[in-house]
Amino acid sequence: MDFSLSEEHQMIQQAARDFAQNDLLPEVIERDDAQRFPTEQIKKLGELGFMGMMVGTEYNGSGMDTLSYVIAMEELSKIDASASVVVSVNNSLVCYGLETYGTEAQKQKYLTRLASGEIIGAFCLSEPEAGSDATSQKTTAIDKGDHYILNGTKNWITNGSSAEVYLVIAQTDREKGHRGINALIVEKGMPGFEIGPKENKLGIRGSDTHSLNFNDVKVPKENRIGEDGFGFKFAMKTLAGGRIGIAAQALGIAAGAYELALKYSKERKAFGTEISNHQAIAFKLADMHTQIEAARHMVYKAAWDKDNGNNYDLSGAMAKLYASQVAMETTVEAVQIHGGNGFVKDYHVERLMRDAKITQIYEGTSEIQKIVISRSVLKD
Ligand code: CAA
Repeated sequence: MDFSLSEEHQMIQQAARDFAQNDLLPEVIERDDAQRFPTEQIKKLGELGFMGMMVGTEYNGSGMDTLSYVIAMEELSKIDASASVVVSVNNSLVCYGLETYGTEAQKQKYLTRLASGEIIGAFCLSEPEAGSDATSQKTTAIDKGDHYILNGTKNWITNGSSAEVYLVIAQTDREKGHRGINALIVEKGMPGFEIGPKENKLGIRGSDTHSLNFNDVKVPKENRIGEDGFGFKFAMKTLAGGRIGIAAQALGIAAGAYELALKYSKERKAFGTEISNHQAIAFKLADMHTQIEAARHMVYKAAWDKDNGNNYDLSGAMAKLYASQVAMETTVEAVQIHGGNGFVKDYHVERLMRDAKITQIYEGTSEIQKIVISRSVLKD
């Protein structure tokens, strides 16, 4: 077993770190305040090959492995989780879903543009009454021969207004339960497709989260992904990989807050010495460092499972469950170490603390991860 990163992985890490420092950091507070999407930054990430990292080069991707992706996600998320969620959804939900299950025509038409970062995508599963209980889709895609008629509402959709391509999960035949669900590719501008209001969020405020309305949207049948009724499994399989990306995001948020707290503790003086010399602070740092290292091992293991053709439902769910918990706990501690300064925006840790919370909610809440983990453990 080799725990060291290859030269190539180290180069990707450095490239993502440089980008985060030079391009994400300068206006991250302003974007968070104004809820402004990182348009220029995402464009540049596309040019650098970060928007289709695992997609084959024949479809304009970077042809990298999942480990490269999680390494990049960690570095970007240390500085700006709003930008990294855009990267994550585009890479692990939209591009992965299309490359793995799409037809050649769908790949040529959509994936080539998504992987290069020319356009970005959104993944539309959640509904007002179907967030965790994903089989209870109310959105319908009625089969009309050569097309579907799509009706319904999706909620909390990341990249809601900035995307051009939307993978929409909808119920075609309610009688068949989860086997009656389809995944359809919907384009922005299709008649009857409306983007609803933007959510005013606690965290990841630079990303655009919207509800979406579909009113008799005519979607050609060639836009269905996989066989009739494959939509729910498509969502589950895609989300299993997405969870590794969000676990890496949570890891990055935790590591970013820890690095700031470590630096601050060596500069800030109280009671005649740097606060890092007080055991109350040093022990917090020891706990944070240990938890982050453990989370990183779990994230890398899940990525390794995916890269080696192993089942990664369990390792991905465990990595997401643990890393998101670590993100929440370490960001709270980072604010505490910063004292009053931690409570003001200039020091970044309050934003990381707000951003951490969503990692316990999206792409399956912590409770959903526990369902996946316990089912896997109990079946053995
Ligand atoms: N891979 C392949 N198939 C899978 C699967 C997987 N990982 N998980 C489930 N399935 C299959 C099952 O085998 C079953 O098929 P068969 O009947 O043919 O055997 C079928 O799917 C139904 O499975 P379950 O009976 O286990 O379904 P369930 O109703 O009990 O739900 C669940 C399981 C894990 C709770 C699931 O509903 C779930 O993951 N919910 C959470 C959804 C979620 O993550 N939402 C987040 C929204 S997306 C988002 O946040 C993106 C963003 O914008 C950032």
